[in-house]
Amino acid sequence: MGWLRDPLAMRDFVVVGHLAKTTPDFLLEDIPGTSGRMDILCRCINSAFFLSHGLRRDVRCFLVLKGGENSKLIRIDGESVRHLNPDERTTAALIRKALAIESGSEWTQSTPGISVCLGGLPKVLDQLPGILYYLREDGADLRLEGPISGGTFVLGDHLGMTEAEEQLLQSRKARVISVGPLSLHADHCIILIQSELDRVGQG
Ligand SMILES: C[S@@+](CC[C@H](N)C(=O)[O-])C[C@H]1O[C@@H](n2cnc3c(N)ncnc32)[C@H](O)[C@@H]1O
Repeated sequence: MGWLRDPLAMRDFVVVGHLAKTTPDFLLEDIPGTSGRMDILCRCINSAFFLSHGLRRDVRCFLVLKGGENSKLIRIDGESVRHLNPDERTTAALIRKALAIESGSEWTQSTPGISVCLGGLPKVLDQLPGILYYLREDGADLRLEGPISGGTFVLGDHLGMTEAEEQLLQSRKARVISVGPLSLHADHCIILIQSELDRVGQG
């Protein structure tokens, strides 16, 4: 049961999609061209959850969709998610189902383990206790920071992060960490974080 889990042992990934649609009117045949780059977020979900033979159950992934009149949040909970497959199309179809239901300020489940509500980055951070990490190219090398632990890891999309989001993360005392000297895709950063946590047996 979700409420029995230790929040400090969780791995929570938050990805901000600055153009990602908040309505289901995009084409599964052309996800990058019609959804506001939801393909990036689908790949992040893949990296957050998939093992070679199985799913990481101790992970949650939150998407902040900002490409609409009112921002929306999508939550994928590894403990209860069903119907998730490694391909982007299946993931985008699940997101589309979530966007098709009427959303309010409370989380509403669209399919098992996937929920949606109105809101933005401040709201999702309010709901995530524990250590906050902000992944940024020029952050402190995570291997020099000492072992990282389970917590919340926030990433940008192809547009990075806005000034307002930067300030918000700063005000929440986020630790700014880097996974290496090169600018990588957000989904690849998630894999590297998972690997670091696996190696130290955290989360
Ligand atoms: C494709 S990058 C963003 C590139 C964007 N043009 C920019 O300048 O911010 C997507 C996200 O991945 C994360 N990221 C990329 N490379 C990273 C690195 N070396 N260390 C930590 N995070 C990184 C950041 O969260 C970034 O917002």
